[in-house]
Amino acid sequence: MRNKIRSAVFPVAGRGTRFLPATKASPKEMLPIVDKPLIQYAVEEAVDAGATKLIFVTGSSKRAIEDHFDSDPALEKSLADAGKDELLASIRDIVPTGVSCIYIRQGEPLGLGHAVLCARPAVGDEPFYVHLADDLISGDPSCLSQMAAEYERHGGSVIAVENVPPEDTSSYGIVAIDESNENRITQIVEKPDPEDAPSSLAVVGRYLLAPEIFDKLATTGRGAGGEIQLTDAISDLLADKPVHAYSFDGVRYDCGNKLGYMKASIAYGLAHPGIGEALRAHLEDLICEK
Ligand code: UTP
Repeated sequence: MRNKIRSAVFPVAGRGTRFLPATKASPKEMLPIVDKPLIQYAVEEAVDAGATKLIFVTGSSKRAIEDHFDSDPALEKSLADAGKDELLASIRDIVPTGVSCIYIRQGEPLGLGHAVLCARPAVGDEPFYVHLADDLISGDPSCLSQMAAEYERHGGSVIAVENVPPEDTSSYGIVAIDESNENRITQIVEKPDPEDAPSSLAVVGRYLLAPEIFDKLATTGRGAGGEIQLTDAISDLLADKPVHAYSFDGVRYDCGNKLGYMKASIAYGLAHPGIGEALRAHLEDLICEK
């Protein structure tokens, strides 16, 4: 039996420039998919995978995330008085009992690796999840739960990967793996051009990391884009500790860009019991009109 994963880190300090002007004053992670913000899907996935300590690494213009996970007695009272029980239930217990939220400010946006390092005092010396909320993954069991099961099998670190079209490698961390050795990662490169990419297996926004990553992050200098890259620290970790690639079962929507976000909104809208049927009819009308 391995250590249970208790901590989930949500790096939410990026500025979300691909969504400007929407993200000028409000966080990208608060963009809704139907009626829930991306960060709520993220929290639900982490809690489902056993996390009880939710660590948000935040930056400027991110106050709304803290407010979202706080209770709102005035709103709860007005919904209760109006008999709106379903809505009341939807805002209560967003964070279940026994789960705590910790907010850490990333003073400067020095990159994803730096954001993860900021969470070190809250995580301690244990394995932990890193969840990027703008990668929305529908899966049952959830992607993080699948990764926890994989970790239970062989320990080490586990990184979710997906095959991408070869021309897209320059948008991702790309890995080479040893299929004969539990898919251990043998190489990881940040955003390589297609001709330099060791494969088309791309790292997506779910990580289960051994605590040794923190020492690597602490000594990782600035890499691509002048930022401290998580990919570079993982590359350092490969020499000392096993890191496994995991091809998850599910559909990923890259909600960090407009097209991916719209695809997720449509997919989740079609699956929604309240609006799915009407949305399908509307889309069929739109397509027939064309
Ligand atoms: P992205 O590369 O998607 O950057 O960051 P971004 O700022 O969110 O969005 P664009 O590219 O400007 O549109 C990947 C993840 O790393 C976090 C982001 O919040 C996102 O979850 N991040 C990035 C930080 O927490 N801190 C940083 O310094 C950089």
